[in-house]
Amino acid sequence: MTAVQLKGVRKDFGGFTAISNIDLDIRSGELVALLGPSGCGKTTTLRMIAGLEVPSDGQILFDGKDVSEVAVQKRNVGMVFQRYALFPHMTVEKNVAFGLKVRGTDKAEIEQRLEDILDVVQLQQFRHRFPAQLSGGQMQRVAIARTLITNPSVLMMDEPLANLDTKLRGEMRRFIRDLQQRLGITTIFVTHDQIEAMELADRVAVIFDGKLAQYDAPDALYKRPGSIDIADFMGATNVFEAMIRGKTATAPFGSLAFATDATDGPAHVMLRGEAIDLHLAEPPETQNQIRGRVSAREFFGANITYTVACGDAQIQVIEQSRRMVDLDQEVWLTIPPDRIWIIQN
Ligand SMILES: Nc1ncnc2c1ncn2[C@@H]1O[C@H](COP(=O)(O)OP(=O)(O)O)[C@@H](O)[C@H]1O
Ligand SMILES: [Mg+2]
Repeated sequence: MTAVQLKGVRKDFGGFTAISNIDLDIRSGELVALLGPSGCGKTTTLRMIAGLEVPSDGQILFDGKDVSEVAVQKRNVGMVFQRYALFPHMTVEKNVAFGLKVRGTDKAEIEQRLEDILDVVQLQQFRHRFPAQLSGGQMQRVAIARTLITNPSVLMMDEPLANLDTKLRGEMRRFIRDLQQRLGITTIFVTHDQIEAMELADRVAVIFDGKLAQYDAPDALYKRPGSIDIADFMGATNVFEAMIRGKTATAPFGSLAFATDATDGPAHVMLRGEAIDLHLAEPPETQNQIRGRVSAREFFGANITYTVACGDAQIQVIEQSRRMVDLDQEVWLTIPPDRIWIIQN
């Protein structure tokens, strides 16, 4: 498999800088998600790695070799897009074999690879169908098979699940993750959906305005976002202005002891909703105790989100729905210091 590196990559379109100075290290066999809002530069980054766009500056390396000048056909990358663009007049097997056929691969080899790949993507039973006779998920599997049959050293997917409904998206994510792990193929997956990125990727590269904002494992990104913008994009709710002094953050609802390193001065304190414990009576532990009143409650089946008014602050607490706490109930919140994150940017 192939390691991919971006070094100081920039892309200008006329006077507009779409990508500025991105450094990115993708290990061989790793699945990396490029995550960010629409227009942040994900597709542009992917297209440069594929060789469909030439960087204005910087280098792209495959296994340490600069491929910036290497044409797309020679890079041996596979691309899967949101629109499947299958040939409507060809059966599944003809669609899948097409890439090898145009390359002039010999017939016996095409047949062998076709069998293998139809097994891998579980499409054997649909091989004689036409695209119009397939569901969205099956079509997407054909698109993936069509790419994989050429044995790409890097697989790239640009929002491949955006057209599918929620349940199917979940199934396809698991399918892609499983396939990628079995084949061990270096994969770059573009998405604007943070849940999708976290579920799929070994590491997530968050891109804002053409800049790499953070590059981290999903749990690190979720628990320790590097800035307010990243926390916000990852769906963080309890982020409060705070003044840091030593290992204490003073927020509108009181002072909290925390464990992480932080510099004295103004910052933000982040409390993950599921990291907070909610008590119906005053708990014995007095450290990091916040008193409040339940002001709202949302039921999500497995989970309940309580909004707790603590002075002027509203703190959201997520609990498994094993119990139902009444509205207006007086409650005490506690949070251990090692579950508190301080954001300094
Ligand atoms: N060929 C192009 N010419 C001019 N501007 C472009 C071109 N391709 C992309 N852009 C601009 O670059 C920015 C990043 O686009 P893109 O990479 O497609 O974003 P994303 O995939 O994250 O939605 C956008 O502002 C877009 O309008
Ligand atoms: Mg895009």
